[in-house]
Amino acid sequence: QNIHCFSEIDSTNNYAKTLAQKGCDDGTVVLAEHQTQGRGRLGRSWDSMGGKGIWMSIVLRPAVGLEDVQIITLAAAVAVVLAFKKVMGIDAGIKWPNDIVLDGKKVCGILTEMSMEMERINFLILGIGINFSHEESEFPEEIRDRATSLGIYLKEKKGMDISRFKRSHLIRAILSELEEVYDMINEGKAGVIVEEWKKYSVTLGKEVVIKYREEQYTGIAQDVDQSGRLIVKQDDGTVREILSGEVSVRG
Ligand code: BTN
Repeated sequence: QNIHCFSEIDSTNNYAKTLAQKGCDDGTVVLAEHQTQGRGRLGRSWDSMGGKGIWMSIVLRPAVGLEDVQIITLAAAVAVVLAFKKVMGIDAGIKWPNDIVLDGKKVCGILTEMSMEMERINFLILGIGINFSHEESEFPEEIRDRATSLGIYLKEKKGMDISRFKRSHLIRAILSELEEVYDMINEGKAGVIVEEWKKYSVTLGKEVVIKYREEQYTGIAQDVDQSGRLIVKQDDGTVREILSGEVSVRG
């Protein structure tokens, strides 16, 4: 497998995109110690401190149609959760569609970017950002109440120091879990991924607030369908299928 490592880069997603445009292999990985312009979803920036996290992008050339792209993001979240469990014994949850949370605080975000050609997927860039060894004081003040790291959680919950673990072990575990779920998707077994995702969901059954462009509405998150859309039933009985946008879970 091709792995490209940098000490500093603007964004691993950007570099992965350049490689993909030059025709790199399916599964090519880009890693950086520090990102100067890490990007998050919905046009936000992603704080990517040097040496504190896993900032990684993977180029994928999936054999699925456009309607199944969302499944790949869900699958990536499942792969990360399984790797946390295997390597560190940590039980994390998934907030739809792609935030990995510990006690309600975000520890990992996933940014999937897509390139289309003639109405088909040319490639996908799966960007995974994991807060590994940050201390609480190292997060920018405005996100401190919403963000956490594996290190903070391990110390609080298990009295363990994160220095017992290597980032490389976790990266290897994530890539191997990802390979398994990716093979399943390519074999048409997306349903298995959705079921697995539901096991870790902290969103289903909860009241959610959906913000999408100018719209905002609340309802109960009832299910995730076979294409990875969140099914939300509003108070007036209207059922909505949500593919993207921002979801916050109440309570
Ligand atoms: C989110 O908003 O939750 C997604 C955050 C994704 C961050 C990762 S870090 C590696 C990759 N490169 C980027 O610029 N962003 C993603």
